[in-house]
Amino acid sequence: MSGRVAGKKAFITGGAQGLGAAMGAALAAEGAKVTLADINLEGAKAQAAAINAAHGSEVAFALALDVTQEDQWIAALAAADAAMGGLSVLINNAGISRSGDIEQLSYEDWKLVMDVNVDSVFLGTKHALKYMRQHQPGSIINISSIAGLIAAHNSPVYNASKAAVWLLSKGIALHCAKQGLDIRSNSIHPTFIDTPILDPLRQRFGKEVAEGKLARQVPLGRIGAPSDIANAALYLASDESRFMTGAELKLDGGISAM
Ligand SMILES: NC(=O)c1ccc[n+]([C@@H]2O[C@H](COP(=O)([O-])OP(=O)(O)OC[C@H]3O[C@@H](n4cnc5c(N)ncnc54)[C@H](O)[C@@H]3O)[C@@H](O)[C@H]2O)c1
Repeated sequence: MSGRVAGKKAFITGGAQGLGAAMGAALAAEGAKVTLADINLEGAKAQAAAINAAHGSEVAFALALDVTQEDQWIAALAAADAAMGGLSVLINNAGISRSGDIEQLSYEDWKLVMDVNVDSVFLGTKHALKYMRQHQPGSIINISSIAGLIAAHNSPVYNASKAAVWLLSKGIALHCAKQGLDIRSNSIHPTFIDTPILDPLRQRFGKEVAEGKLARQVPLGRIGAPSDIANAALYLASDESRFMTGAELKLDGGISAM
C-alpha cells in the first residue's frame, strides 16, 4: 500500500455528503481505510460504494451514527475498529447551522446546534482515544469554521459552537501530549465551501446570486471547493504534520486577514 496516508484508519462523521465525503475520498485515494459515519446511512453507503468502486477493493465502510448519542458513538467506534483493523484518525466533521439572531433564535435550536457541533466532538474524542492509543501516531481533526474565530450579528449559535470546537481541539491536544501520546489534535476553519450546507441560501436567492454574494465577501473572490478542505485534512491526517498539534488551519480565502 502506498500514499501519503497509507495504513491510516480514519473515522469521519458527516461522511454522507459535502466535506465529509470529499475527505473520505481524498484519504482513501492516498492509501487510508475510511469509515463514513452519518445519520444518513444511505448517503454514507453510497459514498463508501463509490470509493470502493474507484479502488477496486474494500477500503471504505459506512455506519449509522447520530453524533449526539453517546451509546451510538460507543457502538460505531467499536464497529469501525473491527472493520478497519484499528483507528488512527478521527475527523469530527458533522455539523449544522440554524439561523436567527440572539433575539430570534429559539432555545431548542440553540441546544440542537450545540449538541451536534460541540457535544459530538466531546463524545467522539472521549470514546475514540481508547482505540487510537493502540494505533499511534494518531490525528484528531475537528472541522470548526472561520465563524468560530469571527462573529456575525446573525449567527450566535453557529459562532459559539464553532468557537467551542476551536478551543476544545487545543485542550485535547494538550491532554494527549501530557499523556505522552503521539496523537495530535487540530482544527480546520473553512469559509464558504460549495457543499449542500449552502442550499438554504441558494434556495432563497437563486444559485448564482447566492454564490455571488458569498464570493464578494472573500478576498480571493470565490467560494471554496470541497477539495480545498480535503487537502488540508489529508495533510493533518498524514505524518507530514507530525509536529503540528493544538493549531488551527484557516482556509478562508483571506477573510480573516482583513
Ligand atoms: N460548507 C461550508 O461552507 C462550511 C464552512 C465552514 C465550516 N463548515 C463545517 O464543515 C462541516 C461539514 O459541512 P458540509 O458543508 O459538508 O455540510 P453538509 O450539510 O453538506 O453535510 C453535513 C453532514 O453531516 C451529517 N449530519 C448532520 N447531523 C448529524 C448528526 N446528528 N449525526 C451524524 N451526522 C450528521 C449530515 O447528514 C450530512 O451528511 C460542518 O461541521 C460545517 O459546519 C462548512
